[in-house]
Amino acid sequence: MTQISNERIPNNVDLSSDKKLQRALEKWQPNYLEWWRAMGPDGFQEKNIYLRTAVSVNSDGWAHFDYVAMPEYRWGIFLTPPIEGRTHHFGDHIDKPVWDNVPGEFRGILRRLIVTQGDTEPASVEQQHTLGKTAPSLYDLRNLFQVNVEEGRHLWAMVYLLHKYFGLDGREEAEELLMRRSGDVDRPRILGAFNEPTEDWLSFFMFTMFTDRDGKYQLGALAESAFDPLARTTKFMLTEEAHHMFVGETGIRRIVDRTCELMKKDPNEDARTGGGIDLPLIQRYLNLWYSLSLDLFGSEISSNSADSFANGLKGRYHESNYDDHICLNDYYEIEMISDGKILTESVPLRNAMNEVLRKSYIDDCQRGLNRWNAKIEEAGFPFRFKLPSPRFNRQIGEFAQVQCDPSGTMIDQNSWDNNKTQWLPSQDDVDYVKSLMKPEYELGKIASWINPPQRGINGKSFDFEYVKP
Ligand SMILES: [Fe+2]
Ligand SMILES: [Fe+2]
Repeated sequence: MTQISNERIPNNVDLSSDKKLQRALEKWQPNYLEWWRAMGPDGFQEKNIYLRTAVSVNSDGWAHFDYVAMPEYRWGIFLTPPIEGRTHHFGDHIDKPVWDNVPGEFRGILRRLIVTQGDTEPASVEQQHTLGKTAPSLYDLRNLFQVNVEEGRHLWAMVYLLHKYFGLDGREEAEELLMRRSGDVDRPRILGAFNEPTEDWLSFFMFTMFTDRDGKYQLGALAESAFDPLARTTKFMLTEEAHHMFVGETGIRRIVDRTCELMKKDPNEDARTGGGIDLPLIQRYLNLWYSLSLDLFGSEISSNSADSFANGLKGRYHESNYDDHICLNDYYEIEMISDGKILTESVPLRNAMNEVLRKSYIDDCQRGLNRWNAKIEEAGFPFRFKLPSPRFNRQIGEFAQVQCDPSGTMIDQNSWDNNKTQWLPSQDDVDYVKSLMKPEYELGKIASWINPPQRGINGKSFDFEYVKP
């Protein structure tokens, strides 16, 4: 079995040979723990939870599973091993050696990329602060905490880069990461979706399905970076991220499963009679979290994204899947609004990199929906989930200035106001979902609105004691 090291901060970056850095991180550690105790899971801090901990980057044994009380979790720093002779593989410096240090001229832009990514990690923990109180099963409770501690580790990963490569500014940014608060009016988190309340488990599963998946694409694009430590850090973060999206996608699938079961039992096919969540309500939650998550990719046309690409700082998702890595002569079609009409415009590809990344994300979301729809089809019901148009409910980018319905048709403010509750969760929806959120902590039992998973974690069964009483 792979063991956790005894170091105060487990790591594979030879931290003990850099005393100054080690001291700086050990100084940050108590502040982090203070933040965790205040803003991490409400309750359960003293309980023993069956959690995995990253202990190395070996693909055959990177994780260690055991019971641990969350404040004693060993948050460590792990980078994938450097690749000998690695070069820039996109942008203007193509084929030149990658950077082991921050080039002076890109210091500002790199720091912004790292801080923006870093800010999302503690934000999501804060959003999920109270969810432990209403978990549908011990299995789900454990998954929530697994996601939370790993988002904590992702914060560590970004803070390591800030401390090691950005001097005093980096240390100040690391402090700031513990000061902002999700949803706070005065000191909000940087990005919109990370200030939205996530107070029920339907929202939690939507968040891990759609918002964590934005993380997958952002980390994937940073894993291409020619700032090598950033590439190696984010690459390893992606390994943990996969489980978060698994929690979201299978969480919704299990809800859908249960809903169909209850629809079959009821003469009017009403899932609510048996304490389930009806499919149209799930669609409205989907519409909300998907559209919020689309905003995270930024504006369709962006000179920042062009600069990041040109300088090899942030690539596309799986850059190696593309043929052209310079992208100087290509154009990309983007929808714009002009004189109240929607037109398509060709923009230089480098300026459209946000949109390119968003498109990869949309295709990935659609694959998830297909799997949910297959469940409904199997059950014999005609309902199908649909991703709303990317024009729908946007706060950022070209379509922030207008209102569009889920099919993408532009509508006036009046029709938006009148129809909004058909498309987005209404107060009644929120109240209904809230009414179902009763904790089920008994071994092997589960709430009325969701089915158990097919199997448990790390080869264990669903009724394994994931959280000790
Ligand atoms: Fe993360
Ligand atoms: Fe995540």
